[in-house]
Amino acid sequence: LRPAAPCLASTGAVDLASAYAFPEGDVLWMRAVFVSSVDGAATLDGRSGGLGNRTDRRIFALCRALADVVLVGAGTVRAEGYGPVRVATEWRSLREGRPPTPPIAVVSRQLDLDLSWPLFIAAPEHARTIVVTTASAPSDRLRAASTVADVIVARGTLVDPATAVAALAERGYRRLSCEGGPQLLAHFVAAGHLNELCLTLSPVVVCGDAVRITNGPGLTVPASMRLAHVLTDESYLFLRYVREHPGLAAPALAPGRGP
Ligand SMILES: NC(=O)c1ccc[n+]([C@@H]2O[C@H](COP(=O)([O-])OP(=O)(O)OC[C@H]3O[C@@H](n4cnc5c(N)ncnc54)[C@H](OP(=O)(O)O)[C@@H]3O)[C@@H](O)[C@H]2O)c1
Repeated sequence: LRPAAPCLASTGAVDLASAYAFPEGDVLWMRAVFVSSVDGAATLDGRSGGLGNRTDRRIFALCRALADVVLVGAGTVRAEGYGPVRVATEWRSLREGRPPTPPIAVVSRQLDLDLSWPLFIAAPEHARTIVVTTASAPSDRLRAASTVADVIVARGTLVDPATAVAALAERGYRRLSCEGGPQLLAHFVAAGHLNELCLTLSPVVVCGDAVRITNGPGLTVPASMRLAHVLTDESYLFLRYVREHPGLAAPALAPGRGP
């Protein structure tokens, strides 16, 4: 038996910025930041916010401050009304030596995005919103998106995670924080492009048919993860899991499983 470190420490007793630091050096690293009820629901009333508490929101804000770029699927942008990132005062010093805020990178094939949203027109010049799409996107929407965002056209009918990550790395974004949603996370896990999952377990049972934190075809071999820490606050658990062998997830999809 190997103890996880730190195990069941109170969030008040640890230095959160160190506990959630990205690996040192020039490492390309994809972190996902999610919240779930104890019975596996990723949403309450159609959004994730109702599942978190103050500490969850602090950690979410911390992960944004630590990231070079925040990656998010179009479904989440639409459901949660995303705007440009504002870094919380508490975590501003973590941006030293980097632009004051990271950009949002929206992943979408349909490009059914309202380009007059603040996400596009109010993003600061140093963190212009990025749209990650594919050549199969409607061409008129692709042209319109490129007037308000930096557009990356990745391989595949759906965005191929490897191309997307490589294109972001080329732009200097190596610490990637994926805020969802469930479809996007499933694609990245299936492609072997998830290094770390920061999961808040919310002490509520919601029943119903809410989606889980992944929504995609099942994997032939589950992606195994190692527990890096467990923190607690008000019956919430803050779990940090690291992929045992990133890049070695089972990308082959099991036929007939999943939605
Ligand atoms: N519990 C949590 O931590 C958490 C986190 C995030 C979101 N959520 C919740 O999850 C729900 C949204 O779920 P969702 O699965 O729809 O979210 P999603 O993964 O953010 O959005 C799905 C959409 O993103 C685009 N997309 C995802 N992967 C893609 C790929 N590989 N290539 C091209 N486009 C891709 C597609 O957009 P187009 O249709 O535009 O092509 C797709 O329809 C919301 O209720 C939100 O509140 C919960």
